[in-house]
Amino acid sequence: MLDGLRRLEYRGYDSAGLAVFQPEQGLEVIKTKGRVDALARQVEGRGGLAGDIGLGHTRWATHGAPSQQNSHPHVSENGRIAVVHNGIIENYAEIRGFLQSTGVRFASETDSEVVAQLLEYYYNGSILEAVTKVLHRIQGAYALGILCADCPDRLIAARKDSPLVLGFGQGCRLLASDVTALIRYTRDVCYLDDGEIAELTADHVWVYDAYLRPVEKERRRVDWDISAAEKGGYEHFMLKEIMEQPKAVRDTLSPRIQDGRVVLDEVSFPKNFLAEMDRIAVIACGSSYHVGMAAKYILEKLLRKPVEVALASEFRYCDPIVTPRTLALVISQSGETIDTLAAMREAKRLGAKVLSIVNVVGSTIARESHQVLYTWAGPEIAVATTKAYSTQLAMIYLIGLCFGEVLGTLPPGEYAGLLAALQRLPDQLEEVLSCRERIQYLASVCFNHPSVFFIGRHLDYAVGLEGSLKLKEISYLHSEAYAAGELKHGTISLIEPGTLVVALATCRPLFEKTMSNVVEVKSRGADVLGLTTAPLEAAMGQTATYTLTVPETHPLLLPSLDVVPMQLFAYYVALMHGCDIDKPRNLAKSVTVE
Ligand code: AGP
Repeated sequence: MLDGLRRLEYRGYDSAGLAVFQPEQGLEVIKTKGRVDALARQVEGRGGLAGDIGLGHTRWATHGAPSQQNSHPHVSENGRIAVVHNGIIENYAEIRGFLQSTGVRFASETDSEVVAQLLEYYYNGSILEAVTKVLHRIQGAYALGILCADCPDRLIAARKDSPLVLGFGQGCRLLASDVTALIRYTRDVCYLDDGEIAELTADHVWVYDAYLRPVEKERRRVDWDISAAEKGGYEHFMLKEIMEQPKAVRDTLSPRIQDGRVVLDEVSFPKNFLAEMDRIAVIACGSSYHVGMAAKYILEKLLRKPVEVALASEFRYCDPIVTPRTLALVISQSGETIDTLAAMREAKRLGAKVLSIVNVVGSTIARESHQVLYTWAGPEIAVATTKAYSTQLAMIYLIGLCFGEVLGTLPPGEYAGLLAALQRLPDQLEEVLSCRERIQYLASVCFNHPSVFFIGRHLDYAVGLEGSLKLKEISYLHSEAYAAGELKHGTISLIEPGTLVVALATCRPLFEKTMSNVVEVKSRGADVLGLTTAPLEAAMGQTATYTLTVPETHPLLLPSLDVVPMQLFAYYVALMHGCDIDKPRNLAKSVTVE
């Protein structure tokens, strides 16, 4: 269990715990605030924990501060039922009040503890029946693991809106929120769907619906290698994943380019759907949303259809205009982001066709979309996404070419030119990565700036959004991204001597316009780190304090190259600040709570 928890450390957490059934002592629970290593030391301190069955958990605090009491597993008052929970029990206050009125004393401030206490309340000799009663009573999102001392040969699991995967190992059955925890022990897995309950013994798994009727589940084989989830000699997963981008993009593109054409076998829409499509609604969060921002410029140019980009957390509550002629393009690395999932369900309910771009095979968004295009980035462990972003962007180009051909919207010669440039992209990414020492040097001279602004126009603006997010999430520096032309409408008041402005000016037709904005910030004392293409370096160098270049390519492909120096810059700045790069504070890899 400790090994499994270590493999999930990348997801972000603040406390950890274990419950093991020991034949003599019953349920033994060890919990601690802090890292899995601290938990392991406590286990060692007690001379180990012997047992054949148990539950482990890492908690990312929502209700109640990170503390030993608030960490999982939570145990019912009589000490006989242990529970781990991911998600949020939305009606916990009402249930807690009810249980307290019956005399139950709570040991934590969490929403999760109500599950353990409610199980004890309903338990009448059958833990499965108690679980169904609890599931009918609680509202919210959950992935639950339950261990009852009265039936110590089995675990019970249940899910709604939070991922759970079951593993079929040699002489053992396993349960986890992410396949990464299981891969060392088995490649045979099955994903629980919403509303399902599972019962696991060492050699059997039974899956039921909410009324305990048996459900047949399909097993899947995980085909990625365990080394993909290891650092392979790099100091951090983030750097490893940055360096893997040429391969990840190549793996995403190659199978879909056949005989000089883009072939998306995975996608088939009813006849005329694309021609009659009224809009594309891109739905995503965080960096995936930033890919959506770039997609707006790229797909509108190639398809001549309106593309609206929505933050998933806003989309679901804004009464969105969606029709059966709308294509909802859902972008998610994990395929489990709860806001994105909920927004996707809303788009589906309103009649949209859902096409998703997902990295994790078998994830909930992938399973619930009408069609899915997998990015073949391999497992991404660092919380700050890099190779998943790049492969999502690569997928946008493939969609633009494929749909553009069907719609006949690409100007003559554009298809072949763009496709040829796309095929050169992995080699050009290698070229950009080979300049990382220069970026490391620039990070060493810039890392002390307290405030950083990223500016750019058009696709450069979309990349600036991602550059700014990368920097703030791993280095904790304050940074903002602005459309360069927007700066003078207010934000320029923040520019003063010592402010660092990262100016992205790779978009040739808008170079002079962006340079005007660079002059404006420079004359107010800002230090400017300018990113442009090699032929424009000298022009950039006349104003910028420092320059960085990327090779020339098709203008629509520039974001794929531009983002790499932004990722490396953030990485090296964070390194110089001594930050916990792979597991930045307060962040989780996959955000499965609203
Ligand atoms: C980016 O570095 C972040 N980890 C975060 O913004 C992430 O992109 C966002 O949470 C969306 O995740 P998803 O792609 O897995 O849905």
